[in-house]
Amino acid sequence: MDYGMISAAYIAASILFILSLGGLSNQESARRGNLFGIAGMTLAIVATIAGSTPISLALVLMVMATGGAAGSVLASRVEMTAMPQLVAILHSFVGLAAVLVGFGSYLEAGTQFSGAEKVVHQIEIYLGVLIGALTFSGSIAAFGKLQGILSSKPLMIPGRHIINILIGLACIWFGVEFVNAGSVSDGMTPLLIMTGLALIFGLHMVLAIGGADMPVVISMLNSYSGWAAAATGFMLANDLLIVTGALVGSSGAILSFIMCRAMNRRFISVILGGFGTSASSSSAPTIEGEAVPISSSETAQLLSSAKSAVIVPGYGMAVAHAQQAVSELVNKLRDSDVEVRFAIHPVAGRMPGHMNVLLAEARVSYDIVLEMDEINDDLPETDVVLVIGANDIVNPAAQEVPDSPIAGMPVLEVWKSKTCIVLKRSMATGYAGVDNPLFYRENTRMLFGDAKDSINAVLTEL
Ligand code: TAP
Repeated sequence: MDYGMISAAYIAASILFILSLGGLSNQESARRGNLFGIAGMTLAIVATIAGSTPISLALVLMVMATGGAAGSVLASRVEMTAMPQLVAILHSFVGLAAVLVGFGSYLEAGTQFSGAEKVVHQIEIYLGVLIGALTFSGSIAAFGKLQGILSSKPLMIPGRHIINILIGLACIWFGVEFVNAGSVSDGMTPLLIMTGLALIFGLHMVLAIGGADMPVVISMLNSYSGWAAAATGFMLANDLLIVTGALVGSSGAILSFIMCRAMNRRFISVILGGFGTSASSSSAPTIEGEAVPISSSETAQLLSSAKSAVIVPGYGMAVAHAQQAVSELVNKLRDSDVEVRFAIHPVAGRMPGHMNVLLAEARVSYDIVLEMDEINDDLPETDVVLVIGANDIVNPAAQEVPDSPIAGMPVLEVWKSKTCIVLKRSMATGYAGVDNPLFYRENTRMLFGDAKDSINAVLTEL
């Protein structure tokens, strides 16, 4: 394929990626957005293979088939609740690829460039390996936290900011050494040392961030993986990879900003880490009152006599696979003239848009699915709020306990409704590990059990 054709294919693929991102910003156009993305990636792969002269086409196809098969099996088997972990691991692959391409490019470029061109290429390699290494180790740490292998509590090493600054300064110093190195073997030492430092930095940065701030970490690593891909594009002189990486990098950065706003955090404070340490068990206020259980038949009675109901889904709905049963419940209530709406918190579940995806899968009509800001003011007038497997996102401690790890995070004010029914299996805390005074409020009732079983029991009673 000649150069003009490849450029045209790359431009078309870039446009398809932009259309894909546009489509994914809204649930009604998300499927179309995905199709644009698939079409763009297919075009990009075909044009890249046709435009290059690989040592062995058979080897490229074999590697692609192996990776494609592994990806398909993983994607078809993964539970919706394990999706964030899968995304974290995929981000780590992008980081690792940038590191490997960087080393490969450095070894190969030894004789290719000279003068200013050589310096520019070396800076590209250095930055690509740096971003790639910290994305790789940061994503592995995020995977460990999300999978529950590592504690969700922030790791607070004494003098951690100084350690980070020293690592940053050392990376700059080794960068100068790398660019000034006379030969590839001389440059390899600073490159290897910086890679080690960047791996430590990525790990340390994510481990220092508390469980309550993980949504920002995920979108931030998403952004880093985009910049790592863009850096790889510079090293390989591949325009499409640069454009695609920059699209992912900037959209991830915007998402991080949105997540910070949703959690009322400053981005820089999240990155510096340490949230979730201020509330020691001794300073945490003791929660007074008694949790009052409710049966499925009482819940059915309350719902059928209500004029308005709001459903707040959380991570537990995903664990219980309760979305279909919830959708059935909504249809039944709406048939009996109860006004039912959903209230979606921006960080409900374990990944951005988690609840929207589940509700779309259960074919819940989009017009009754409202964002937190759209529905919070209506909650005091709501007869019944059903909290299905949610905890942190409805915790009044965020507003009432100044030194709580989730203090300042906007929450759904479900306790202001006339009756609030919480569906969960026990009195356990949510992801942030913070006790929830909501369960002990006078107008709160606890419907204990697996969310899907509980909803099915309520459906039987209705
Ligand atoms: P959580 O606070 O994690 O609470 C989920 C609740 O679901 C738990 O208290 C659990 O209580 C209950 N549960 C689990 N399995 C259940 C089942 N089978 N049936 C019924 N209940 C079940 O969830 P949330 O309110 O959605 O808040 C999200 C949290 O995750 C926030 O802290 C957020 O910062 C964090 N986070 C979010 C993201 C994104 S991007 N959304 C990413 C990472 C972390 P029991 O064990 O008693 O049943």
